[in-house]
Amino acid sequence: MIVAPSFLNADFDHLREEIESVSSAEWLHFDVMDGKFVPNETYDDKMLEQVSQWSEQFFDCHLMIERPEDHIEDYAEAGADLITFHYEATDAPVDGLIDKIHAFGIKAGLSIKPKTDVEVLRPYLDRLDLILIMSVEPGEGGQSFKPNMLEKVRSLAAYREANGLDYLLEIDGGINDETAPKVREAGIDVIVVGSHIFGQKDRKAVIEALENA
Ligand code: DX5
Ligand code: ZN
Repeated sequence: MIVAPSFLNADFDHLREEIESVSSAEWLHFDVMDGKFVPNETYDDKMLEQVSQWSEQFFDCHLMIERPEDHIEDYAEAGADLITFHYEATDAPVDGLIDKIHAFGIKAGLSIKPKTDVEVLRPYLDRLDLILIMSVEPGEGGQSFKPNMLEKVRSLAAYREANGLDYLLEIDGGINDETAPKVREAGIDVIVVGSHIFGQKDRKAVIEALENA
């Protein structure tokens, strides 16, 4: 699997070293929270501009913000390789937003919160590059994995197979050495991992173990 470390709970006084410590991972997960769609607030596109100068990794940008349509350009120009927005965060037509992301020559992802039915994704599956299944309520790191989210993954993996589609399946929240093999078995391609990586010293070894989970 591809590992996408989320540096949400990293040591921000030594951020450059923290980012370098996970540089063996193929992707880097960039969590954006606006204090509206979720209660907490994080960094924004200015931080992405900075971090993307420090790393050659694939920048996986997860927008947990209201009205993502107003911010696509900022994140695309700041260095995102993929922008994922939340189905629940916008009243704008979802397919228009996917087109808007693609117009910048980058990949488009759509995410749903744990309580949102997987069926809402159905009309967009043939034009998406990635689906992000939230396995915790978005908003903070360090929560426990919700095992019933595996059903959503299995259903999306089966649909992909049956229809010859090629979207990637990504999962975010509570991934560690115990949950990683379970999500892989369900059909996940990309795991977002925050506290399990940043809570340990030898991050290269943790990443390698997760890649081979
Ligand atoms: C949750 C964020 C995550 C999260 C992952 O709202 O989207 O990316 O911080 O952290 P862990 O791996 O600690 O659950
Ligand atoms: Zn995330």
